[in-house]
Amino acid sequence: MRSGSTNPRNRVAVLHGVNLDQLGRRPAAHYGTLTLDQLEQQITGFADELGLKVQFFQSNHEGQFVEQLHRVDELADGLILNPGAWTHYAWAIRDALEIAGLPAVEVHLSDVGAREPWRQVSVIGDLCVATIAGRGPAGYRDALATLREALA
Ligand code: DQA
Repeated sequence: MRSGSTNPRNRVAVLHGVNLDQLGRRPAAHYGTLTLDQLEQQITGFADELGLKVQFFQSNHEGQFVEQLHRVDELADGLILNPGAWTHYAWAIRDALEIAGLPAVEVHLSDVGAREPWRQVSVIGDLCVATIAGRGPAGYRDALATLREALA
């Protein structure tokens, strides 16, 4: 059992889904030029500034992503998810997020609301405390700040 003063709720798991490991070789107009490693370094810097501890997970395998969601409540107090294309149709990931039961923020590097109609659908959005899209890496800073409020 975790308790207030000695164990603040400051652990954030950042989960990157399918094709996010390919950042740096995806269309720069949508996703910028950072690699996933570089993006995660930036996110770690944002988290340090906000007094949050981040951990990262990426998979191209939906079942592995689902299983990470099954165990994440033992590892983290809150979630940031960018499931990539799974966002738009992966109902198993939605169900697993519901099982995780943690406050979550959905992030997209690109402005999915201004792209193809199929990208404008999110199967996880209503389970999340916020959705942040089109802000590039800064969106992760916004997501961390939002989660910090939700965890306070
Ligand atoms: C994305 C948007 C998705 O539509 C796309 O499939 C991705 C990345 C984003 O970060 O903008 O892989 O989630």
